[in-house]
Amino acid sequence: MKVTVVGAGNVGATCANVLATREVVNEVVLLDIKEGFAEGKALDIWETAPINLYDTRTVGSTNDYSKTADSEVVVITSGLPRKPGMSRDDLIATNAGIVKIVTENVLKFSPNAILVIVSNPLDVMTYCAYLNAKVDSSKVFGMAGVLDTARYRAFLAEELNVSPKDIQAVLMGGHGDTMVPLPRYTTVGGIPVTELIDSAKLDAIVERTKKGGGEIVNLLGTSAWYAPGAAAAQMVEAIVKDQKRIFPVCAWLQGEYGLKDIYLGVPVVLGKNGIEKIIELKLNDGEKALLNESAGHVRDVMGVLDTMTANA
Ligand code: LAC
Repeated sequence: MKVTVVGAGNVGATCANVLATREVVNEVVLLDIKEGFAEGKALDIWETAPINLYDTRTVGSTNDYSKTADSEVVVITSGLPRKPGMSRDDLIATNAGIVKIVTENVLKFSPNAILVIVSNPLDVMTYCAYLNAKVDSSKVFGMAGVLDTARYRAFLAEELNVSPKDIQAVLMGGHGDTMVPLPRYTTVGGIPVTELIDSAKLDAIVERTKKGGGEIVNLLGTSAWYAPGAAAAQMVEAIVKDQKRIFPVCAWLQGEYGLKDIYLGVPVVLGKNGIEKIIELKLNDGEKALLNESAGHVRDVMGVLDTMTANA
């Protein structure tokens, strides 16, 4: 079984490395436009196999999509990352062109592949891939919620001094500062988090989560990769092993949560068919208002893409 990761930058290479280390599939193809770059990263990962004891083959390719043929899942990480002072939305013009070309090339060789989009601005790049892929939306979706909930869960684990493994959480909305972590749907070993952390502290953790990507950009001068790469790999694993995991995923909504024709983070069931179900939680008025605000923001950026496409 084969999975392709397009973009051998930090996020793509980390994703490939996690897929190989965890032996999620027996072949990972890493593709990049920069001469020799994907080959170098893939070779380095392959040379780790005798040390970390796995047998997943890792193959690199400089823009030769024939090497990606018959991939079951393709993770698209291509595009520029943001720099300090930039929002994810500032990347739209450059990254939309890249995501379009990559999507078309990938589907030429793997017409049945499931596409997991990671490029930013995430919700709108997922929309861009969907517009160009012309396949069912259950097979084109974005990775953001797994990362954003991981940040939220990590901060909660730190605050409570408990294992992050025991923290379960739902987070909805766009992959931006308007994302909506949901304390009412957050538990720690089965205990509602609202019983364990006072509301002021919880609010501070929610705020830190919303700006979690920016916190790393400010520290590093570029965006994160360990958690984003691992998050994308976890989604791939759920798909190729048909695990039916429940993850927050950037999905095409057709009336769910009262929202239509928009890509937005919602809880879904992920399995071999991609998004097998969108789960509709009961939200209270405050939560609904926050989700609608986030949807409004994503729609504005989708509008920018639509205008660019119309003028192209
Ligand atoms: C982040 C970027 C990758 O949230 O969007 O770290």
